[in-house]
Amino acid sequence: MDRENQHKVPFVDALEDYCRCHMVPFHTPGHKLGCGASVYQKELFGSALDRDLGLMYALDDLFRPEGPLREAMQLAADLYGAGRTFFSVNGTTACVEAMILAVCRRGDEIILPREAHRSVMNGLVLSGAVPVYMESRFAAVQQISLGPDLDGLKRAVKAHPGARAVLVTYPTYDGVAIQLEEMVRYAHAQGLYVLVDEAHGAHLPFQAAFPKEALVCGADCVAQSTHKLAGSLTQTSMLHCARAFPLTDKIAAAMALVQSTSPQYWFLASLDSARRQLALDGERLTGRALALARQLRHELNLISGICSFGREIMDYSTVGGFDETKITIDFSGLGLDGREAERLLRRERVEVEMTAGSHVLALITIGDSEASTAALLKACRRIASSHSVCAVERSTEPPLPIPQVCVSPQEAWNAEVETVPLTQALGRVSAEAISFYPPGIPVVGLGEKITAACLEYIARKMTAGYRPNGAAGGLLPTVRVLCL
Ligand SMILES: Cc1ncc(COP(=O)(O)O)c(C=O)c1O
Repeated sequence: MDRENQHKVPFVDALEDYCRCHMVPFHTPGHKLGCGASVYQKELFGSALDRDLGLMYALDDLFRPEGPLREAMQLAADLYGAGRTFFSVNGTTACVEAMILAVCRRGDEIILPREAHRSVMNGLVLSGAVPVYMESRFAAVQQISLGPDLDGLKRAVKAHPGARAVLVTYPTYDGVAIQLEEMVRYAHAQGLYVLVDEAHGAHLPFQAAFPKEALVCGADCVAQSTHKLAGSLTQTSMLHCARAFPLTDKIAAAMALVQSTSPQYWFLASLDSARRQLALDGERLTGRALALARQLRHELNLISGICSFGREIMDYSTVGGFDETKITIDFSGLGLDGREAERLLRRERVEVEMTAGSHVLALITIGDSEASTAALLKACRRIASSHSVCAVERSTEPPLPIPQVCVSPQEAWNAEVETVPLTQALGRVSAEAISFYPPGIPVVGLGEKITAACLEYIARKMTAGYRPNGAAGGLLPTVRVLCL
């Protein structure tokens, strides 16, 4: 990385220079630099409305970049060691869709873990690719998925020797990293492209203790939510292509296909400035987050009835790394499940990222401080003080059902469908993806058979208070299925 160059923020500078010209706007957006904006928006955004621009060829075109945006994306590529980097104003969702669209054609098989994010399902609908699932390992004590392993990949390849690509989530929401390097080596030897959903990994390059970044592990294409664990605005992500990846031009075309033709320039400037922040100060900022997370975990584990696993998760032989800034807090020793713990934490004015089984997931990032981690600790201590410690009886997270793919997601999307009560859907082929968000992993994907295991999983989650997402019926009294 050229550190001197990383001081630059070419797109931020271009936007600010343009705004200083005070051009009289005869173009979109219609509020014309805030003059026509509602009172709420004026109060909320203030002078930022002057910069609410989205399609200014004077400033550069996201989909045919030749000026400051091109330079901004080149700087991001240099920071992350990519051959080429693309900015996304539609999150990692768009990046995942674009990766699949660029690599797979209709009918191509793509090997996936069961816990692939629902954006993967979108990519399958758009491309016509056919999912082939490899098993994932489940840690019964911690109640989390450990992701797939090399043996599972080998079995999937043996059963589907013509597969075009493998896509993995790395690391998982809970911070667990599979042994990616060896899986990439094997996949490449079999002629497969390796696509990585690194939504939770924009901060990985900045601490040696974090799992090694997917690009360094040899992945071809890596999608990253810069907004999730680095400092850019919500909805902004990056897609990195390895230097030797031959389909980069197709990726460029696919990124244009899945995003707005009026990308918000705030978002692009936000990515440019977050990249500089990471390049110049990422090590210190992530180092502080890591130290805060380690101290927090240590203190949490001193509270009777509460526990938070740490690097010992790497004792599982298939785990290759762990991101310690992901704090899974297990309340089963207090007789609470994750939903109850979430509600009690909310009462203490603490909001967590996700709940499952008997735990909640808290993220410690570059935005945290001793005060914020102290607030979480205090809330946990208060909950512990009002509950008696009991014998651990974990509220078990049901393992995700093994998918039975009947038709491709695209075929299911285009098929004739009918709506049936969920209770009568056993054995039918789903025309929609049903998931609980977060983490947004489909229980049933489009084109998959609704098995007894699926129905049981959905019922258990709903009984535990989780609300399904994605089904047409919203609360799932009904589900759309393919007509027989
Ligand atoms: C593993 C994973 N992939 C992709 C996404 C989508 O990312 P984004 O919200 O940036 O579109 C998420 C979001 O939660 C995710 O957890």
